[in-house]
Amino acid sequence: MFIFDKGNLTGVDIGSYAVKVMKIKGTTDKRSLEAVGYSKLNHLTFPEDNSRVSEILRNLLSTHRIKTKKAAAVLPGGSFTMAHLYLPNMPKKDMKEAVRWEMRKQITFSPEELVCDFTTIGEIKRGEESMLSLIAFCAQKKDTNQLIKILEDALLEPLIIDVAPMAMLACFDYNNVWENGVNYSMIDIGDSKSTLAVFKDRKLMFAREIAIGGREMTMAVMNKLACAEDVAEKEKIRCEISSGSNQKDRRSEAEQEIIDTVSGVVERLAAEVHRSFDYYQAQFREGSVSKIFLCGGSSRLKGIDSFFENIIRIPCFIDDPLRNIKVEPKKFEAMKIREFAPDLVVTVGLALKCQ
Ligand SMILES: Nc1ncnc2c1ncn2[C@@H]1O[C@H](COP(=O)(O)OP(=O)(O)OP(=O)(O)O)[C@@H](O)[C@H]1O
Ligand SMILES: [Mg+2]
Repeated sequence: MFIFDKGNLTGVDIGSYAVKVMKIKGTTDKRSLEAVGYSKLNHLTFPEDNSRVSEILRNLLSTHRIKTKKAAAVLPGGSFTMAHLYLPNMPKKDMKEAVRWEMRKQITFSPEELVCDFTTIGEIKRGEESMLSLIAFCAQKKDTNQLIKILEDALLEPLIIDVAPMAMLACFDYNNVWENGVNYSMIDIGDSKSTLAVFKDRKLMFAREIAIGGREMTMAVMNKLACAEDVAEKEKIRCEISSGSNQKDRRSEAEQEIIDTVSGVVERLAAEVHRSFDYYQAQFREGSVSKIFLCGGSSRLKGIDSFFENIIRIPCFIDDPLRNIKVEPKKFEAMKIREFAPDLVVTVGLALKCQ
């Protein structure tokens, strides 16, 4: 049997802090990293700075010699809505319409502006009727068009516009061995927000965006020390949070102040995560989460995995999205790829998509 490789797409993750691009080559279980590019956005805002973002993207693609124009990207945080729906089983075309109809109830903009998609969780019986359980996503056309324009201005051809939880699932699926019936959670702790997803049996079961991320940690340090943002960020990155008090004696008062400030934000995030898991368990009766995988730039905060584990009481790991992808050390070591790999989960998920 021949497998024709039409090639993978260029993955593009435009976050609020940084843009990441990636090209992966190879098929099925023999993939290797071809190119990766990373550029901070230094507070550019959307849509005011869209043309500047396109320029950064174009430069990244040419610097890293990424020639595949066909691209996959995700909608920015806050620009889409998710809902868990139960609908009678019907042909896919009708289902699209039914989802659209349901999602009309969730929006505040005109229905003509609505774009929808969904992923199926499973079938359940309600009396005689067979119902489909699914997660629907919807966004406003102006937001998808804006993203498409940024990509096109960077001379890319957007083939797939997805949402972060689905890209996270694609990355997790490629890198992990699934145990039947086990709930895994992946939490992408970014800059402006964190994306929580629960996966089970290779499906997305639950997703939620939490408006807490690395920027809030930096801002908290900035306020505490009354210093500039770049100084606060450096202090944040330097500190190590821990839930035990055994190291307190060895730290200076100033150091402890920063740690307490950052810990306060992480504690609130962990509480939101805990609440989400409780809701997932109570609402959908799918059992408890067995393992948590942290990713995103803020998952590089020292000590965050054990800090989370102590609060939530679920084993917690920092994810490596390149675990099953061959990375040539000579080509990528200089850019310290291993260090910032957790930031690349969404980009990897997108770069795994095929034409
Ligand atoms: N070593 C580190 N320790 C702690 N925080 C870090 C570290 N490295 C980066 N960060 C933080 O990670 C955040 C950026 O993460 P990431 O690149 O995942 O965000 P993004 O994808 O651009 O944003 P978003 O997904 O929220 O739109 C910043 O707040 C940055 O300060
Ligand atoms: Mg992100």
